[in-house]
Amino acid sequence: MPPLDHLVITASHQHPNTLRDFDVAAAVTAVTTKLVGYTEAVRVLSGRFTPAASVVLSGGLAKERPYPGSTVITTFTSAITGLVKTLAVELAPHRVNALHPGLVGDSPRWRDADLGPQAGRTPIGRLVTMAEIADATDFLLGNGGMNGHDLFVDGGFLTR
Ligand SMILES: NC(=O)c1ccc[n+]([C@@H]2O[C@H](COP(=O)([O-])OP(=O)(O)OC[C@H]3O[C@@H](n4cnc5c(N)ncnc54)[C@H](OP(=O)(O)O)[C@@H]3O)[C@@H](O)[C@H]2O)c1
Repeated sequence: MPPLDHLVITASHQHPNTLRDFDVAAAVTAVTTKLVGYTEAVRVLSGRFTPAASVVLSGGLAKERPYPGSTVITTFTSAITGLVKTLAVELAPHRVNALHPGLVGDSPRWRDADLGPQAGRTPIGRLVTMAEIADATDFLLGNGGMNGHDLFVDGGFLTR
C-alpha cells in the first residue's frame, strides 16, 4: 500500500431531518458516517501516514447556526470539534483539524438551489467557493502549527 502524505475526509449524509418527522434510520446513518466512519477511516489509514502527514475533517456552519431540520447535522458538526481534539492527541505528532465551510455556492449540492437570500446575509456579499474551501484545506494540511482546531470559512457569516 502506498504511503499517505495527507488525509481529507468529506463524506456526508446530510439531509434535513425535522424533529416533527424525525427519521431515526437517516439520523443513525448520518451520525455513524460522520463520527464512527471518520474515526475508523482515520484509524485504518493512519498506518500509512508519512511522518508529516496530517488530517482534515469536514464539519459545517450548522455547528454554530442551527436551522429547522438541522438537529442531526448541528449535533454531528459540533462533535467534529471534539473528534479533532481527541484524534490530535491519539495520533500525535500527526495533526488533525476541522474545516467548517459556510454554504459553498458553486458546489454541486446547490446546483439547482436559489441561495440569493443566504448570499445577501454574508458580509462579503456572496457565498464562499469550492476554490476557497480547497485553499483553506491546503492551509490546514500544510501549516505545522495548526492542530486540534476548527477553521470556519464562511465569508463572515458568523458575524451576523
Ligand atoms: N456544500 C456545502 O455548501 C457544504 C456546507 C457546509 C459543510 N459541507 C460539508 O463539506 C463536505 C463536502 O460537502 P459536499 O457538498 O461535497 O457534500 P455532498 O455533495 O453531499 O457529497 C457528500 C459525499 O459523501 C459521500 N458519502 C456519503 N456517505 C459515504 C460513505 N459512507 N462512504 C464514502 N462516501 C460517502 C457521498 O457519496 P455518494 O454520492 O456515493 O453517496 C458524496 O460523494 C461534507 O462533509 C458537508 O457536510 C458542505
